[in-house]
Amino acid sequence: MKLWGGRFTSRADEIMEQFNTSLPVDHRLYKEDIAGSFAHVTMLVHCDLLTPEEGDLLVGGLDSILQDIETGAIKIEGNYEDIHSFVEMHLTERIGETGKKLHTARSRNDQVAVDMRLYAKGKAAQVMDSLQMLIDSLNTKGAANNVIMPGYTHLQRAQVVTFGHHLGAYAQMFKRDKKRVGNAIDILDENPLGCGALAGTTHNIDRDVTTALLGFAKPVDNFLDGVSDRDYLLELMSDFSIVMMHLSRLSEELILWSSQEFKFIDMADAYSTGSSIMPQKKNPDAAELIRGKTGRVYGSLFSLLTTLKGLPLTYNKDMQEDKEQFFDALDTVMDCLEIMSKMIDTLHVNADNMKAAIKAGFLNATEVADYLVGKGTAFRDAHEIVGRLIIYCEQQKKAIEDLTVEELAKFSEQITEDIYDYIDYENIITKGNKHLMKQVGK
Ligand code: ARG
Repeated sequence: MKLWGGRFTSRADEIMEQFNTSLPVDHRLYKEDIAGSFAHVTMLVHCDLLTPEEGDLLVGGLDSILQDIETGAIKIEGNYEDIHSFVEMHLTERIGETGKKLHTARSRNDQVAVDMRLYAKGKAAQVMDSLQMLIDSLNTKGAANNVIMPGYTHLQRAQVVTFGHHLGAYAQMFKRDKKRVGNAIDILDENPLGCGALAGTTHNIDRDVTTALLGFAKPVDNFLDGVSDRDYLLELMSDFSIVMMHLSRLSEELILWSSQEFKFIDMADAYSTGSSIMPQKKNPDAAELIRGKTGRVYGSLFSLLTTLKGLPLTYNKDMQEDKEQFFDALDTVMDCLEIMSKMIDTLHVNADNMKAAIKAGFLNATEVADYLVGKGTAFRDAHEIVGRLIIYCEQQKKAIEDLTVEELAKFSEQITEDIYDYIDYENIITKGNKHLMKQVGK
């Protein structure tokens, strides 16, 4: 069942049919394909290229196909080359000869281009919503558990921070990701319908009509580019890759924090799994899968970049490969955002363990140096003094704040009783470095 039999005298080989068909993948473009056709028919009538009666018949037929797909009355399957052939052939079957006029002044090249742009635009907006959902989860969990915890560099305990500020760092990343996806939408928001196969059409069409009906910001400026541009998919997949990289970093921390070594959090049972042999195990599989699936999204991006590399203008069948990669990356990022958001909502914070980890790590050493600076010592000298103090603490197996003021004063005579207040962990955050208490906002 082909749209182009006239020039051929023999059938395609069965394996070629299977190799060539994109229906098992592009069936999900049915709504956008029919929306594009609605706009195209309306424009053809507007430009007197179809009669209003023909227009009504075509729109009615397309509408009945749409309804039947949505209700499940017809399934998108069979021996069709792609979703465009499927819809057009069903249309002609239903309304007769007039169906054959649908494709006037159109090619599948501008048709698939408009379908994909509409689809990508709609789905990118959903990704932005999912990103906002995760940002909200991070902010809510952080605000409800804004307890002190160790902050790390080199995965070594460094200085005291708050759990809210730590989760807030991720909220910032996802806020930037959301902005990036929004920028990608702005760039892709152009209508390729009317570019034809590559060179427009001699019919007197009006691209502004389809542009307005389909809700694009403007028609594309160049026909050759309009049918061969897939940059917007690469751009979205780059954004998805960055989202996954951020999700993967967060996953890694959740995995570490829920280990017996850290015990900073407990993950909800709903997002964990057990072991078939070790009865005690509760594994953070959801976080591990997100970390793992990051590679899959990067792979999709690189696959399409490689497919497009070196392609001459304009349309080449290679481009049909864009869909599998884009759909897979999109599905993966959407699932991962939802699961991460639910994992954050349901995790339990072990504030006492976070506090105990601070105590064991000399996380107020920098503040001792800052205290000495406040008393007139140069910072580099203060750093040296505190370094020696830490060696002493390690030998004594004591925290800095557990030493007596006499012991402390041996390292600098500027140290007096007020040091305990200055280097108290809660005080560091509530009186000193107040910014760490701040939430990130929306
Ligand atoms: N299935 C095709 C694709 O996704 C549709 C466009 C076909 N165009 C063509 N000239 N054969 O790219």
